[in-house]
Amino acid sequence: MPANIVVGTQWGDEGKGKIIDIISSRADVVVRSQGGNNAGHTVVNNGEVYKLHLIPSGILYKDTLCLIGAGVVLDPKDFIGELESLEARGISTANLKIDPRAHVVMPWHIALDGLSEAFRGGKDIGTTKRGIGPTYMDKYERCGIRVYDLVHPEVLAEKIQATGKLKNKIITEVYGGEAFDLDKVTAEYTEYGKRLLPYVDDVSVLTFEADKAGKTIMFEGAQATLLDIDFGTYPYVTSSHPVSAGVCVGTGVGPKMITNIIGVAKAYTTRVGKGPFPTELDDETGDKIRNVGGEFGTTTGRPRRTGWFDAVIVRHSVRVNGLDSLAINKLDTLANIPILKICIAYKKPDGTLTEHFPAALEELEGCEPVYVEFPGFTEDISKCKSFDELPENCKEYIARLEEYVGCKVSMVGIGPDRSQILER
Ligand code: GDP
Ligand code: IMO
Ligand code: MG
Repeated sequence: MPANIVVGTQWGDEGKGKIIDIISSRADVVVRSQGGNNAGHTVVNNGEVYKLHLIPSGILYKDTLCLIGAGVVLDPKDFIGELESLEARGISTANLKIDPRAHVVMPWHIALDGLSEAFRGGKDIGTTKRGIGPTYMDKYERCGIRVYDLVHPEVLAEKIQATGKLKNKIITEVYGGEAFDLDKVTAEYTEYGKRLLPYVDDVSVLTFEADKAGKTIMFEGAQATLLDIDFGTYPYVTSSHPVSAGVCVGTGVGPKMITNIIGVAKAYTTRVGKGPFPTELDDETGDKIRNVGGEFGTTTGRPRRTGWFDAVIVRHSVRVNGLDSLAINKLDTLANIPILKICIAYKKPDGTLTEHFPAALEELEGCEPVYVEFPGFTEDISKCKSFDELPENCKEYIARLEEYVGCKVSMVGIGPDRSQILER
């Protein structure tokens, strides 16, 4: 006690890494429970920038226990790269543990991610090509390779032969791609297993015991609600459950452990990858937000699509995640835009309004955002020390946003640094 969840409420990249880093200063344990290295979480401390993909953002605090739960898919090669780059910067990874049940991203998953995207032609999802979807497919097909297998060479060799043969057949005969040399893969992944062995431990047990001992736990969400496999913009989603409920299955703890759920949003909206985006701005304002906000993917470097804050989406997230409060980041990015807009409802093709995010893309098609306009602000707010110091127009924007989404805003981000947060 207490156990907090931090989740994304839009399409990812809301600044979860920054919020988790800030709250981690008061946490004993930080847990990742889903997704993989498709995530890119940025933490900025005194000008030092850290981009984390698989390792929980609590790693920057030397006494914080960092856990990677069973629901994560782990690319060992990338993971080792991340470990080494942190260690090279003097960050200890001694307090890091990985659940043996987590599934391993194998090279054929990465190949199949690229091949299936190419096969979809113009209807590709725009994945990060990290093999995430194919790894979760194998997990649910019950033929995946887990971290336990990776650190047991005889089991690993057997499983690579068994699934690798089928994967090679699919790659070569369905997609016309190149087969993997399974002996080479076995040798390479056996070495990764040796490197990972000291980190393997039961994350369900560790989390349960930490909670019983009265420690403060933070569950670090990756991706976001609109990328959830069920509650996102299917099929333009990721293959896991980034919503708050995913934390319990992805860690192996009961829902009664959770005491507080914080949603993170930007003061506007961004999306990287394909799929619907009702409030997208395909104009100078959109370009301005992209350039001022540095909206380029942390993982793939792709330019992020930008648009107005969509209260329909965040209202959906408030409900689906059971949010207690919201952190609104990047308010500073909206400076010097004369008129700000918030979408409060969608107008359907038959002229009726809806305040709820539709279940299917077909239903979303033809919906038009209904906006409320606000006067913008020109002040540099990045050095404000308290919420009260913000210009009146900023306070009004946040107050109305709270009203439209039905959730209180407890933190406002005014810059990328750890210190640039206004807590209420
Ligand atoms: P995450 O995936 O949700 O952790 O977010 P990312 O790290 O991918 O993207 C958020 C970006 O916004 C990063 O470059 C952060 O450093 C930056 N950022 C976070 N909060 C703020 C803020 O309040 N203001 C500004 N200007 N940048 C922010
Ligand atoms: P963080 O944790 C933004 C998007 C991809 C693509 C879709 C499916 O940094 O917020 P995948 O590789 O998961 O199969 O791609 O999901 N996506 C993200 N977008 N932030 C992320 O993570 C994302 N992780 C996946 O761009 O549209
Ligand atoms: Mg990100």
